[in-house]
Amino acid sequence: MRHDTIEKNLNLMMVLIVVAISIGGLIEIIPLMVSSDATEPAEGIEPYEPLRLAGRDVYVREGCYNCHSQMIRPFRSETERYGPYTTAGETVYDRPFQFGSKRTGPDLARVGGRYSDDWQRLHLTDPRALVPESNMPAYPWLSENMLDGELITKKLQTLQFLGDPYSDEQIAGAASAVEGRTEMDALIAYLQELGTNRRNRR
Ligand code: HEC
Repeated sequence: MRHDTIEKNLNLMMVLIVVAISIGGLIEIIPLMVSSDATEPAEGIEPYEPLRLAGRDVYVREGCYNCHSQMIRPFRSETERYGPYTTAGETVYDRPFQFGSKRTGPDLARVGGRYSDDWQRLHLTDPRALVPESNMPAYPWLSENMLDGELITKKLQTLQFLGDPYSDEQIAGAASAVEGRTEMDALIAYLQELGTNRRNRR
């Protein structure tokens, strides 16, 4: 009977739908905002140093996430292939997250150290030179683009303002940390660190 009333009253039904969805949403969201597992960095996780931060921005700009996820799901098929599954505390300094769900290429959450710097450089310059069947695009121009010290200093300052624990010395040294380096250097430095601070730690 009461159901009948709700079904026939569109406004009442809309209000009740909003209430139901809000409760569901809050139950999902609130734990992520208050639980220290999700808000505090996991052991060994530090804010990105300047060169790697610059590399991360190249990764985002070039849209690598369109083909690569950075989240290992807690399933055996995933952990056997990629390593320990991803936890929230590992990604607290990722703004925005690079979790992704599209995997045209492999997950990269623990790719750090899997290949040499030279391999990464050649692969990014010409993927098919190393993996003939690859459909990954080539990014040769990254080796020509120099990093901007002033820009990276501003980025660190902004992240510090947002609460990331960068020290003033780190910010003062940011420009010299990227001086003379290319976007390719930065991207490789970023890739080579992915997951290394947690690997084999389970
Ligand atoms: C169109 C999809 C596509 C895009 C965009 C793409 N990749 Fe890939 N990537 C692939 C595929 C497919 C492979 C597997 C074949 C190979 O190794 O080339 C791969 C492999 C890789 C590997 C080796 C991973 C492993 O475990 O063997 C790395 C590292 C990588 N990509 C980095 C990047 C970076 C960095 C970018 C952005 C600059 C990028 N990819 C953009 C498709 C893509």
